[in-house]
Amino acid sequence: MAITEQKEPQPHQTATESDTPEQGHGDTLLTVNQVERSFQVGGNTLQVLKGIQMEVKQRQLVMLKGRSGSGKTTLLNCLGGLDTPSKGEIWFNGQLFSKLSDDERTLVRRKKMGFIFQAFALMPLLSAYENVELSLRMAGTPRSEWKDRVPECLELVGLEKRMHHRPFELSGGEQQRVAIAKAIAHKPVLLLADEPTAELDTGMSAQIMAVFQNIIRTENVSICMTTHDPTILEVADHVYEMVDGKFI
Ligand SMILES: Nc1ncnc2c1ncn2[C@@H]1O[C@H](COP(=O)(O)OP(=O)(O)OP(=O)(O)O)[C@@H](O)[C@H]1O
Ligand SMILES: [Mg+2]
Repeated sequence: MAITEQKEPQPHQTATESDTPEQGHGDTLLTVNQVERSFQVGGNTLQVLKGIQMEVKQRQLVMLKGRSGSGKTTLLNCLGGLDTPSKGEIWFNGQLFSKLSDDERTLVRRKKMGFIFQAFALMPLLSAYENVELSLRMAGTPRSEWKDRVPECLELVGLEKRMHHRPFELSGGEQQRVAIAKAIAHKPVLLLADEPTAELDTGMSAQIMAVFQNIIRTENVSICMTTHDPTILEVADHVYEMVDGKFI
């Protein structure tokens, strides 16, 4: 395994700035500084992330692309605090996120982040409405706010007419939109999505991306997502390409 380690130069910094002239006041929400992640596998060290440098600004749609096994999910797990880097720093919302205790990180994650996965992670016996309500309950949002916020979120994703359907009564794209409504209900500032369109056809994927663009505008969130789909990459404010644990 190559132990190449880059220190000072940060090659993609220029691209980030020039690609996003229209991004509001340009406040940075997330900064990743020389992040490495390695795993011990059968007595060997497997280095998966090899010095990641990136940032996500407020209201930005940032995409990670790269071949299978390049380290995208590993990075996303570190960004969301589900995992921690072996080296380097992650700053989130003004805090040194990667150095918080597990409990502190869980709290930040619960209040400030939302997650969307490839498979929609809905509760099968609950309606769309109840699924969103459940996520408010888990986030500790006061019960008095649920009645307004649940329909508001389902409207944001265009599902006001499907509120009382259960997941099996919804299409794949509709299920993913419920998952998005769930992920934004507690008003996170960052949405992390791992291949959110992988199980959808082109039309439904386009709908999901339209929903993402809509919620960036109306809910003031930033989104960091992974994808393999070249047509989807076109709507990104910035694309980071991962090759073997590094951005190129
Ligand atoms: N907990 C772990 N222990 C050991 N190795 C791991 C662990 N998690 C990930 N890896 C390894 O790290 C590499 C990157 O995995 P990762 O899931 O981040 O890739 P990915 O870019 O998300 O791929 P895909 O596009 O297929 O989802 C893989 O070779 C994987 O085997
Ligand atoms: Mg992955």
